[in-house]
Amino acid sequence: MADINANYLNLRSSYLFSEIAARVAAHAAKNPDQKIIRLGIGDVTQPLVPSVIKALQDAVNEQSTAAGFKGYGPEQGYDFLREAIVKDSYPGLGIGADEIFVSDGAKCDVGNFQELFATGCKVAITDPVYPVYADANVMAGRGGAPDGSGRFAGMIYLPCTAENGFVPELPKEKPDLIYLCYPNNPTGTVLTRDQLKVWVDYARKNDAIIFYDSAYECFIREPGIPHSIYEVDGAREVAVEFRSYSKTAGFTGLRCGYAVVPKTVTGKAPDGSRVALNTLWNRRQTTKYNGCPYIVQRAAEAVHSAQGKKEVTAVVEGYLANSKLIKNAFEKMGLTVVGGTNAPYVWVKVPMNSWDFFTLLLEKAGVVGTPGAGFGPSGQEYFRLTGFGSPENTREAIERLRSLKL
Ligand code: MLT
Repeated sequence: MADINANYLNLRSSYLFSEIAARVAAHAAKNPDQKIIRLGIGDVTQPLVPSVIKALQDAVNEQSTAAGFKGYGPEQGYDFLREAIVKDSYPGLGIGADEIFVSDGAKCDVGNFQELFATGCKVAITDPVYPVYADANVMAGRGGAPDGSGRFAGMIYLPCTAENGFVPELPKEKPDLIYLCYPNNPTGTVLTRDQLKVWVDYARKNDAIIFYDSAYECFIREPGIPHSIYEVDGAREVAVEFRSYSKTAGFTGLRCGYAVVPKTVTGKAPDGSRVALNTLWNRRQTTKYNGCPYIVQRAAEAVHSAQGKKEVTAVVEGYLANSKLIKNAFEKMGLTVVGGTNAPYVWVKVPMNSWDFFTLLLEKAGVVGTPGAGFGPSGQEYFRLTGFGSPENTREAIERLRSLKL
């Protein structure tokens, strides 16, 4: 008999965004004439920029010649992209091209990286949290059973609430692995360098590893807010960083991201010796992954060019303008809002249970957002909207929200 991995039975029956998509599809089927505005899942709406399209087209054309054709590529990514990343995104931070592992997106990397660690490792996540960090560890047997409140009994939770200014406090119980995401999904909040240093210092002192998801760093506008954890001294000893071209450059469909795994970050072997995570991740990727497509990596390379950067920055500015509109609109309605200035996400305190608010907005306004409860019990009275809609749809969504007189 093939016994299943029973850890899967501890998961919620469906992934948050699949559940939302199913509810929206059911509503749309019943209301075929209603225009639904989707500001739920953080999917982009603006087309790929001209530099990316040109790089894609050139790379496709190369494939039609014997000289330009590419078969299997390096599992870690092509040197041209790894070097462009180091030069453009990590100048002066001591990161080498052989510490960059290109992939088909940050979601897979943040989900898979925990495989390098023992099942017995204790995991700390924020509450609310991007559900992938929790689910991946539950699948691996580190989560334990659901405790009935929306949490898992085996995880350490770091509440991020209005009371602590959405800044996670150091845990009482010592974790081995700590997931941090800044700018934060879902709250849209950021950490200052000093606030991030607290975590780096803690990890160094307690021999813990930080998984730092900085998929939204390109939305940071405030000076002094760190874009990378490696801006903090000592982070190269304890942190792995994940980045993505999805929100930066509209690659949610194209798929490309990368993990930064400094050779100086180590874990402990059973005999007490230290093993570089860079070596283990390389071993994992070469066995289980065949590399991001060449044409996509050429497209990603174009994002790092001077012209490409100019073009993608203009698109990001548009998304940020939408986020600010949403934030201002909710504030004018008298609701408390965070995020939306250094992040595409706006986190609103709502006057009811977040799933009820989701249903109200969908049914009465045809607007889709994400109920805060889906990110953890601390999100129960919050709702997340994204700035990733088109400007027209964002304005229309705001008008519809106003008419609800919340
Ligand atoms: C979100 O809406 O939280 C993101 O789109 C999820 C993701 O990037 O996978």
